[in-house]
Amino acid sequence: MRIDLSGRTALVTGSTQGIGRAIATTLADAGARVAVNGRRGDAVETVIAELRAENPDRDLIAAAGDVTTPAGTDTVLAATGDVDILVNNLGIFGATPAMDITDDEWRRYFDVNVLAAVRLIRATLPGMTQRGWGRVLDIASDSAVVIPAEMIHYGMSKTALLAVSRGFAKEAAGTGVTVNSVLAGPTHTGGVEDFVYSLVDQDLPWDEAQREFMRVHRPQSLLQRLIEPEEIANMVAYLASPLASATTGAAVRVDGGYIDSIVPETAAHTHPVRTSFRSFPRSVTAVRMSGERTAVGPHAARRACTRASLRQVLRPELAAGASSQATGVHLRVGSLDPNESRKAVMAMSDDSNDAATAASRLPALSR
Ligand SMILES: NC(=O)c1ccc[n+]([C@@H]2O[C@H](COP(=O)([O-])OP(=O)(O)OC[C@H]3O[C@@H](n4cnc5c(N)ncnc54)[C@H](OP(=O)(O)O)[C@@H]3O)[C@@H](O)[C@H]2O)c1
Repeated sequence: MRIDLSGRTALVTGSTQGIGRAIATTLADAGARVAVNGRRGDAVETVIAELRAENPDRDLIAAAGDVTTPAGTDTVLAATGDVDILVNNLGIFGATPAMDITDDEWRRYFDVNVLAAVRLIRATLPGMTQRGWGRVLDIASDSAVVIPAEMIHYGMSKTALLAVSRGFAKEAAGTGVTVNSVLAGPTHTGGVEDFVYSLVDQDLPWDEAQREFMRVHRPQSLLQRLIEPEEIANMVAYLASPLASATTGAAVRVDGGYIDSIVPETAAHTHPVRTSFRSFPRSVTAVRMSGERTAVGPHAARRACTRASLRQVLRPELAAGASSQATGVHLRVGSLDPNESRKAVMAMSDDSNDAATAASRLPALSR
């Protein structure tokens, strides 16, 4: 099987670094003429010079401009010419406590992560359908499905992008143009290094910081490491190629197995405990609830938590106090129902016996 994109022109937004740069490189190596985009002309020229120095056969176009504005979008499209492959890669992300996200920030995430992509699709889809061939690829994220509590505005924008992809795939039905989204998982890029360091000890060397981040904040990853940008780019190149002609309207995962479901859209429903208590890397192995007996073992505990729809940590200081009495066991206090009138303490450990012992030592909780 050979991916051949010769004769196709691709525009990759946000391609001066990270995943976008890897996608631009891979598409160019597959023979496409690729427009490299970033806001600054000098940065775009530098990247193009670097990519050509690595391989002089790469056919690259400088398409600097801010694609979050209509004027910037026009500039970029004028530099690119007819687009056969549109990769909406540009996306911003950052951790902000849910209650601190302002109206302006909600709007900014929508404008940059969703509306910029929509505007480019509107501008390029008619040409693609007229020519009878085209590819639109929207770079979404595992966060579209497993909404991170520390960046729900980002999750919202990526969920919206899935809807945009699916909707425009319908618009392009039967035309030879496919529209898909790619759900990237936690990936090793410069942007992510900053993000990782915003959540773990800034003095840790990168390798340790990465491991700590995956252990504490992304325990669901089956890959157990960050994804390399080229691994995302390989999937994008395949979907951009004529070989992927029967894949459209799909949300394709390159997430390192992060989303714990065979059907992405249901993941949030199947693992409410994992998502709510994401900061605990270990399995929930015992739960003691007010007015009920202690549930022991990963399955019973998970069922209990699911039934109780644990949503919010109420008193971390109590959990910390109890934790200090039981080595290797994490304890957490959570509400048992949305009106928070009942509480539970969960003991989490790799060892069921430790967790059960710790749970049995806990004081009875009043309702
Ligand atoms: N990294 C991850 O772990 C991860 C995981 C899942 C999904 N994703 C998604 O993958 C995509 C790429 O992420 P990344 O981490 O590779 O990004 P990144 O390293 O932060 O790179 C962002 C790129 O976008 C450009 N850019 C920023 N604002 C722009 C604008 N207004 N107009 C044009 N270009 C602009 C930047 O160049 P200039 O600054 O020069 O403009 C840069 O080239 C995003 O959609 C992200 O949500 C990332």
